[in-house]
Amino acid sequence: MANIIKAGKGSTSYPVIIAKNAITKSNLRPHINLSKNILIITDSGIPKTYVNNIIDKLGAKKKIYVHVIPEGETSKSIKEYVKILDKLAELKFDRSDQMIALGGGVVGDITGFAASSYLRGISFIQIPTTLLAQVDSSVGGKTAINIKQGKNLVGAFYNPELVLISTSFLDTLSDKQFKSGLGEVFKYSLLGNKKIKKILESSSDKILNKDPIVLGEIIKESIKTKAAIVTKDEKENGLRAILNLGHTFGHAIEGCMNFKGVTHGQAVVYGIQIVARISFLEGLIKKEDYQKIDRTLSLLKLRTDFSQFKYSDLKKFIYNDKKISGGKLNLILLDRNLEGYKTNKFNKLNLSKAFRLA
Ligand SMILES: NC(=O)c1ccc[n+]([C@@H]2O[C@H](COP(=O)([O-])OP(=O)(O)OC[C@H]3O[C@@H](n4cnc5c(N)ncnc54)[C@H](O)[C@@H]3O)[C@@H](O)[C@H]2O)c1
Ligand SMILES: [Zn+2]
Repeated sequence: MANIIKAGKGSTSYPVIIAKNAITKSNLRPHINLSKNILIITDSGIPKTYVNNIIDKLGAKKKIYVHVIPEGETSKSIKEYVKILDKLAELKFDRSDQMIALGGGVVGDITGFAASSYLRGISFIQIPTTLLAQVDSSVGGKTAINIKQGKNLVGAFYNPELVLISTSFLDTLSDKQFKSGLGEVFKYSLLGNKKIKKILESSSDKILNKDPIVLGEIIKESIKTKAAIVTKDEKENGLRAILNLGHTFGHAIEGCMNFKGVTHGQAVVYGIQIVARISFLEGLIKKEDYQKIDRTLSLLKLRTDFSQFKYSDLKKFIYNDKKISGGKLNLILLDRNLEGYKTNKFNKLNLSKAFRLA
């Protein structure tokens, strides 16, 4: 059975539909203008059968075009963005035509940005195919591309018309990418979602075996948590910051490793372990809580050894982070209920100590 969650506010709110197979005529048709053009953006790593299935469900008579970008983060570039705009203009897309993003966060981010800017905004649908995109990037309306000065530096807040999540897409996803998404799911368990916490602690085997019922449940709960937070704070003025739990260090680790050899979710797990350590040194959480976090990460085969990273190496990346304001580092730490909250009040020494004591 499908689960439907509403995200966003007022006229820009949109449904998120989660099911084993969410790509159905009845889910798509109310959001598609059948007499208009559709451009599907996907990447070279996504199985072709997924594209064909969507075309099939849309009906053969429509003007459906497909544009494939090379797989990987380097495609979130100005070059690929311009190619998409060229395609839309060549095909004479007007404001009532639509785009579909079929892929992971890379495809979702660049498609969303193209949709937000072409003709000052055309409608688009998110069909996420990675766990990370299903639990995180497809919901919340953040779109972006990278420039040489940094990741996600050019983008827009722009909500999709619809998000369709098929858990069956995860069957073809590599273990590495699956675990990357699981890192973000773990993050939601520390942002107040008790159901996720319980499922992660008690059903790790089912999760690792991609049991569709358990996956559907953790995806639904993740989206609920994210949607509740982003709907309250659409333009990232306050509350939304807690979604960055583990990300200040995670981004620093990704930067330090030149974005190679570490997935985003894996870097977030390193970051969460470091944050848990600082929270413990600050006296905010007990040793047992810290150990419990480690234990759950072990069950999910996500636990890492962050002692390989030195604070001195990460420092310059940490202080380049977008989370610096007025020269102060804002960190999301854990409180005694094991929930994240934003603060710039912590002992700097504990920050560097957390790495040494890893
Ligand atoms: N907008 C947001 O709020 C937000 C949030 C988090 C992350 N992001 C962005 O998301 C991006 C990372 O996304 P990602 O982790 O999904 O990586 P990704 O989009 O690069 O996909 C990872 C790989 O998996 C392949 N793939 C995708 N679906 C597959 C499937 N079902 N079967 C087999 N292979 C499949 C892709 O071809 C790709 O090679 C980053 O650019 C990050 O900045 C955005
Ligand atoms: Zn993230």
